[in-house]
Amino acid sequence: MDRRKIILDCDPGHDDAVAIMLAAREPSLELLGVMVVAGNQTLENTQRNARNVLQWIGADVPVYAGCSGPMVRDKVIAGDIHGSTGLDGPVFPPLHKELEPEHAVQFLIRTLLDSQGDITVVTTGPMTNLAMALRLEPRITEKIARIVLMGGSITNGNVTPAAEFNILADAEAASVCFRSGRPITMVGLDVTRKALCYPEIVERMGRIGNPVSELFVALMDHFCKTQKAIFGWEGGPLHDPVTIASLIDPQLLTLKPMNVQIDIRSAQSYGRTNCDFYGYLRLPPTADVAVDIDVPRFWDIVERGLRRYSEEQA
Ligand code: BDR
Ligand code: CA
Repeated sequence: MDRRKIILDCDPGHDDAVAIMLAAREPSLELLGVMVVAGNQTLENTQRNARNVLQWIGADVPVYAGCSGPMVRDKVIAGDIHGSTGLDGPVFPPLHKELEPEHAVQFLIRTLLDSQGDITVVTTGPMTNLAMALRLEPRITEKIARIVLMGGSITNGNVTPAAEFNILADAEAASVCFRSGRPITMVGLDVTRKALCYPEIVERMGRIGNPVSELFVALMDHFCKTQKAIFGWEGGPLHDPVTIASLIDPQLLTLKPMNVQIDIRSAQSYGRTNCDFYGYLRLPPTADVAVDIDVPRFWDIVERGLRRYSEEQA
């Protein structure tokens, strides 16, 4: 089987952690590296969290630390949702997995330039690293097979009425990426807010009974509590793994091509992904935007992904 090559750029983050779990053992994907950026927490925290998760799940995937703050605006974090470590809940054993010495942006440039143009870049945090790489070495642009991002929303935001966290946290970076001309799949709140991790889902995954499903349960216990406190939902939306699940199963999402522009100018709507759903602007589409998700199919993918850790590694 041809494995699709991916690089995951993330800011763990409870839902980022689940994205890592799904990507690292998926036979149809080849996870070339995990890049980390400041987002849900400081870079110091997010890079440690990525290493903790990869060590826990026993995945031999290199971790590269990237940018410690956005390109232009001041840093924002999401401590209310993910806690003071960025991954509150589980107790991790002593950390031995090391960080790679190379900067994530350099890793991305080097790997894309050396590639056959067959690497998909998945971002589940602010898009700073990718935008910086595009600015530093424009020759990588043609080498990106596709950008798949969790971010944005056709409708409402989750930090302001207009903006979703990953885009708001570095809207200028998102704007650079959306204007790159490369194929983009935008997995926004319109679909990820349907992937609510209700208590029965946590129980279902817990019944798998391997160390990775135990980590899933410990993560979701914290995540769902904070989501309930802030948004009043009984289950936390598992945003980031929807990106990986959509690569595993191309039938998962309903996509609609649209012209998408990032608002980097207005005061109220800064960070909004303006999605021209009805084609008012008569401009060419710039992204395939997720408009619907098959939710039972998603949870089946998550369950299958966690069960893979009960099997011998191929
Ligand atoms: C996004 O923001 C972060 O808090 C999550 O990890 C996810 O990537 C959802 O808006
Ligand atoms: Ca994230």
